[in-house]
Amino acid sequence: NANNNIVIAIDGFSSCGKSTMAKELAKKLGYIYIDSGAMYRAVTLFCIQNGLVTNGVIDEDRLKDEMRNIKIEFRINSEGRPETYLNDKNVEQEIRSMQVSNLVSPVSAIGFVREAMTRLQQDMGRRKGIVMDGRDIGTTVFPNAELKIFVTASSDTRAKRRLEEMLRKGQTATYDEVLKNVEERDYIDQHRTVSPLRKADDAILLDNSHMTLEQQDQWLYNEYLKAVKK
Ligand code: DC
Repeated sequence: NANNNIVIAIDGFSSCGKSTMAKELAKKLGYIYIDSGAMYRAVTLFCIQNGLVTNGVIDEDRLKDEMRNIKIEFRINSEGRPETYLNDKNVEQEIRSMQVSNLVSPVSAIGFVREAMTRLQQDMGRRKGIVMDGRDIGTTVFPNAELKIFVTASSDTRAKRRLEEMLRKGQTATYDEVLKNVEERDYIDQHRTVSPLRKADDAILLDNSHMTLEQQDQWLYNEYLKAVKK
């Protein structure tokens, strides 16, 4: 498969299972998996930890100066899974908290933050053989990706999935709280001026509200096979 390394972009709404399917496909193909949302989450955590947030408002001037002090990387853990590092510290758990989730959409709407993350993401994909999930991978980061998927599911399905995931990890949240966060992020992600969440014209639409994980993985692998045959 070294000869048909491609770029696979998986975009879509919050909590619709993008990362689960992206990770599974990357594992199957021996590709690198990159969670671009984790990078925006890490910038958000940096803002929280460094006093750049006051009453939910981000100090953009200070953040602009601090951008060069933010180092984001993925390192593979002992189980072969990539984990997010912010300035050499493992933040994989912390970036999934409600506090970060509630602030990440405004942070990711800032133009210079997006420019910096886009550049990093493009560097990571230079050698292809990559599956990246996010909101603007097929539209902005890799407009020439050989395979683009746009995933969606009802907000109720997504809130239930996110809540289950959080409870499983020992985090606390209620269904209403999670649903509100999912819907708020949908709105901000779709309405920001820079790289809004949008299906690329050449992306394949997947609504997985009523699909099992197995069906979804099969569907995606099949799309991959079609893409490499082209
Ligand atoms: O995929 P996620 O829910 O972890 O992403 C968190 C937030 O990051 C999401 O609400 C919007 C933002 N994001 C983005 O703007 N662009 C991306 N490529 C990925 C995520």
